[in-house]
Amino acid sequence: MAFFRRLERVQYLGMTDTTTLLIDHLQKAVATSLQVPDFRPELEKPADSSHGDYSSNVAMVLFGQLSPELKEKFKNPRQVAEEIVTVLYQTLPQDSIKEISVAGPGFINFKVSDSALLAYLLQVKSGDWGELLRVVDPKSSIAIVEYSSANIAKPFTIGHLRSTIIGDAVANLLEAVGWKVYRDNHLGDWGTQFGKQIYAYLNIPLDSTGEQSNEQIIENSSEPVKELVKLYVEFHKQAEAHPEMEDAAREWFKKLEDGDPEARRIWQKCVDWSMKEFQRIYARLGVSFTENNGKGYGESFFENKMGPVIEELQEKKLLSESEGAQLVFLEEEHLPPLMIIKKDGATLYATRDLATDKFRKENTERYGSHPLVINEVGAEQSEYFQQLYAVEYKLGWYKPGQRVHVKHGLYRFQDQKMSTRKGNTIWLNDVLDEVVSRAKGSEEIGLGALKWNDLKRSAHLDVVFNWDEILSMDGNSGPYMQYAYARCLSIINKVGAPELDQPAAQLTIGAEGEAERLVLRKLIQYPSIVRRAAAEFAPHHVATYLFSLAQEFNSFYHSSPILQAKSEQSKQLRLQIVQGVADTIHHGLKLLGIQTVERM
Ligand code: ARG
Repeated sequence: MAFFRRLERVQYLGMTDTTTLLIDHLQKAVATSLQVPDFRPELEKPADSSHGDYSSNVAMVLFGQLSPELKEKFKNPRQVAEEIVTVLYQTLPQDSIKEISVAGPGFINFKVSDSALLAYLLQVKSGDWGELLRVVDPKSSIAIVEYSSANIAKPFTIGHLRSTIIGDAVANLLEAVGWKVYRDNHLGDWGTQFGKQIYAYLNIPLDSTGEQSNEQIIENSSEPVKELVKLYVEFHKQAEAHPEMEDAAREWFKKLEDGDPEARRIWQKCVDWSMKEFQRIYARLGVSFTENNGKGYGESFFENKMGPVIEELQEKKLLSESEGAQLVFLEEEHLPPLMIIKKDGATLYATRDLATDKFRKENTERYGSHPLVINEVGAEQSEYFQQLYAVEYKLGWYKPGQRVHVKHGLYRFQDQKMSTRKGNTIWLNDVLDEVVSRAKGSEEIGLGALKWNDLKRSAHLDVVFNWDEILSMDGNSGPYMQYAYARCLSIINKVGAPELDQPAAQLTIGAEGEAERLVLRKLIQYPSIVRRAAAEFAPHHVATYLFSLAQEFNSFYHSSPILQAKSEQSKQLRLQIVQGVADTIHHGLKLLGIQTVERM
């Protein structure tokens, strides 16, 4: 909810769509008749669409906050709602609304007029989505969205896949509503494991015949990470019998930290090999980053930036010693202490995260003075991020609401082939190849199916991985959505494109247009859905909406075939609706990072 507070601070741009018009007038009505200034109400869509197109609960929300006199005057939220409706009827432009009514304990329900429905359709046709969706001023609203954050020399996991897909969609959503978005990748490219990796690389041959060097094998492999992981696993196997290997690995990490050229060279190779493989995955997924020339700022970038963090923690008296380690205690926050320096003097993941967020905060030329900083990371790190944010608030670097953890749940595999038996890694490329092959070789359909399956539900939930569901042609799936889009195109191809220069005045819905109205009333909800999804960092709202739009369109298409339209006017309207639905599905899928296909 802190985010909404933030939104209030940014300037609302002059919007022309119905949602914003209603919100603006509602805000004014609330300010004048209830003497509650600066309250920005949100509109919901009623569960039952026969209640209207929009619904507001302001009367119930605000009743408790009214002054004693006003409470006395209104007696209950329902009467407050009646008062607001009276004001709205006086202030709203006459042709914008068909009906405003009060329901239940004090809901205010709005039914949009035909002319507003048609005006929206024409706006969609103009293709100016920026104008339709924007709610924040990009000059003052800067966000850093950090996602993917895979680990060098380790498998790109399903968790990293989720982070990549969800993070990208969140970034797209924020951009759509007007944020200036920077996309960062906090690669795990530093830590003591690199000492082991270097030791193994130098001492454990991948080819037992000794014909090929480790460098040659890894260099020529199409999956270099697999080779690096082999070395790492082998290291641990051998180290059980030879604990002195652990000491040697520690020395290598020390050398790496001290800038030893050999250690650096091998580390850099591990980074390059892994990135080559990760880049292929990003390219397949159509995902990219903007920071550090598209590479993202990995943990290693902050290796020499931790000193000032530690100094600042000391200056602000936040560090306490305990058993030789340095910690920040978070008793007031009811959280366990966060370790900053280990007893052997080593820094940690958290120390690098603090250096990262200090860098973001101080880079005001790029990120402004109050960026919103989002980490898309698995839910298993929830407590860690609470600790991290708490420390950053204590340091005064960020204000609550400026730091957001968008979390995702786990994948569960039913399928034997994909199940994670012990020691059995799921290789992401295998999953991607499998879904594409099940989609008869189409990358767009296969990867779209995978992404939709991830984005159609609230990110924090676990996903049961079920191929039938993922690729279903008649359920809530990516292919279903792509098919709905392709069918719109085929209708337009068959009947002929709508006359694009049709002026608004020539379109009318007519007395028999109930089916048309239903689809249009669904269509006009899109901007508010996108804004809500952006405000809650929750792409699934868009997916849920698109699926119900496709279903609504399905019934329309069956009940109102274009070729059976009674007049040229009615045919034009139906065509325009098909086009509007196609444009909306296309736009929504693009926000989710899903491509459309023209034929299926
Ligand atoms: N590399 C980490 C992992 O795989 C995720 C990093 C998340 N981001 C961060 N700022 N800590 O678990």
